[in-house]
Amino acid sequence: MRAVVWHGRRDVRVDTVPDPTIVEPTDAIVRITSSGLCGSDLHLYEVLAPFMAPGDILGHEPMGVVEAVGASVTNLSVGDRVVVPFNIACGHCFMCDQGLQSQCETTQVRAHGCGAALFGYTELYGQVPGGQAEMLRVPHADYGPIKIPDGPADDRFLFLSDVLPTAWQAFQYADVPPGGSLVVLGLGPIGDMTCRVAQQHGVERVIGIDLVPERLARAKHRGVDVLDWNSFDDTSDIVDAVRSRTEGRGPDAVIDAVGMEAEGSPVAKAAHTVTAALPDKLAAKLMRKAGTDRLAALHLALDLVRRGGTVSVIGVYGAMTNPMPMMTMFDKQIQLRMGQANVRRWVDDIMPLLTDDDPLGVDSFATHHLTLDEAPSAYSMFQSKSDGAIKVVFNP
Ligand SMILES: NC(=O)c1ccc[n+]([C@@H]2O[C@H](COP(=O)([O-])OP(=O)(O)OC[C@H]3O[C@@H](n4cnc5c(N)ncnc54)[C@H](O)[C@@H]3O)[C@@H](O)[C@H]2O)c1
Ligand SMILES: [Zn+2]
Ligand SMILES: [Zn+2]
Repeated sequence: MRAVVWHGRRDVRVDTVPDPTIVEPTDAIVRITSSGLCGSDLHLYEVLAPFMAPGDILGHEPMGVVEAVGASVTNLSVGDRVVVPFNIACGHCFMCDQGLQSQCETTQVRAHGCGAALFGYTELYGQVPGGQAEMLRVPHADYGPIKIPDGPADDRFLFLSDVLPTAWQAFQYADVPPGGSLVVLGLGPIGDMTCRVAQQHGVERVIGIDLVPERLARAKHRGVDVLDWNSFDDTSDIVDAVRSRTEGRGPDAVIDAVGMEAEGSPVAKAAHTVTAALPDKLAAKLMRKAGTDRLAALHLALDLVRRGGTVSVIGVYGAMTNPMPMMTMFDKQIQLRMGQANVRRWVDDIMPLLTDDDPLGVDSFATHHLTLDEAPSAYSMFQSKSDGAIKVVFNP
């Protein structure tokens, strides 16, 4: 089959690799019809390279049609249309029972001290072959895949694999009080969808911050009050602008939908450049031991939120000892919540919104539909945010 394969920093190719087969009785094989490209893939494309190996198949936002099932998979039949959640979970352990599927104790990658295995996401998360491919082996298919009806085109359901539950969790964790205000940092696919979810829940005051004109425009078009990060000289000016919109106090909640590659962190950006020049073993050690995340967005979130408010971190961070403003966090009595999305936990809540009236705008959410062969240029386009790329979907 054809698959998007990682070969090195900024070097992904479309290779012919062996077709996947059933290995465990709980496996299924899915023929992929659509597969998303995510901001998380961009971390692998460059910064998280030390944790990747040439040959790794990328992708964690797939959907398609069941081709084969293992002997213990009784919930799926050949021909079923399914969306595959990005985290791999068993559905019956202590963590899964609590709706913490991203912490599944059956698939946890204990060798690296990490949570549940993920499709296409580094050795830290199990080095499981991903879904930007023609076919995918789905472990724990007796629990994971979400059966969806025939009829609407793929994009109606595709984002259940990651974007929708991630945005949903970001909003739930932000704990916006009735009548409250929310700032969303980053208006990539995750931040954009988070704004939509917040509005859907009746939050009237949603302020979105980014620096890419078409991302700002898209959120504005849906009623988000947008601020262009680039138009401010200093963080304190952004804080002032937000306070002036939130009774001088700051918003009740801030969601960081940017993550470890935030603009505006010159020191950590230099560290990323330095680690890029090191041999992978050394770079991996440095990244796990030293503070090399770009924390501009997270620190801005802590500055922006009102005293006693909540910061919900949905952007991914990867370094071990990041410097954090403990004095501010303690003094402002900030509540912090974060983590990988527990995809399965939110699916039943989201499904009723995936209707023909399409309140979340999923049908027109993707800006680009491309073939798998176009993956190398798609990665580069999405990284440079050129050609209006906000969400890319591959159709193998
Ligand atoms: N927790 C999870 O389960 C989960 C799931 C999916 C994605 N993610 C993470 O969410 C983050 C966003 O993903 P995405 O697909 O939207 O990616 P993306 O890279 O397209 O979006 C990030 C956005 O942040 C903006 N940005 C950069 N620096 C900023 C700053 N200082 N202030 C404000 N905005 C800034 C960028 O212009 C971009 O639009 C990534 O870190 C991704 O890994 C987490
Ligand atoms: Zn994703
Ligand atoms: Zn489990």
